[in-house]
Amino acid sequence: MNLRINGTEREVAEGSSALLIYTLRDELGMTGAKIGCAAGFCGVCTVLVDGVATRACITPLAVVEGKEITTIEGLAQQDASGAVRLHPVQQAFIDAQVPQCGWCMSGQILTAAAFLQTNPAPTEAEVVAAMGENYCRCGCYHRIKQAVLAAAEQMAAQVVAATLPTEVRA
Ligand code: FES
Ligand code: FES
Repeated sequence: MNLRINGTEREVAEGSSALLIYTLRDELGMTGAKIGCAAGFCGVCTVLVDGVATRACITPLAVVEGKEITTIEGLAQQDASGAVRLHPVQQAFIDAQVPQCGWCMSGQILTAAAFLQTNPAPTEAEVVAAMGENYCRCGCYHRIKQAVLAAAEQMAAQVVAATLPTEVRA
């Protein structure tokens, strides 16, 4: 079967009942998504499926066939000059030095990126609620919250900047 992952068609040998996390990690070598509980609870395996945060450890390939899968490896984008631009959530996590061991971080970042698409100006309580099902055994919750709020501010600033006339932006 073919899967569309990070903008590229990938042929995979696994059958439609195989779970996405194992195809990503074991067959395609995309190890950014981690395995924790393997039962849909912890969130470390989170990827985006058509922009929706999805737990890859409980998602069969049949569910994602024909959809756009985004993993942490594909979240950054290239700009017109070819330079890699980190997603604002990635940059905010770096700026706030969020990770400790890092195991949960791809899931945290992708969950936050999907959340900010649906709620670009969240309150602190909304961030806590949105991130509440992604566990961090290192207890980085305060910095995760701060980074998501910072990313929201950065994304709002980018939207404002993009609406300004060119001469004002310069
Ligand atoms: S490994 Fe998928 S939710 Fe825990
Ligand atoms: S940084 Fe270690 S589990 Fe979150």
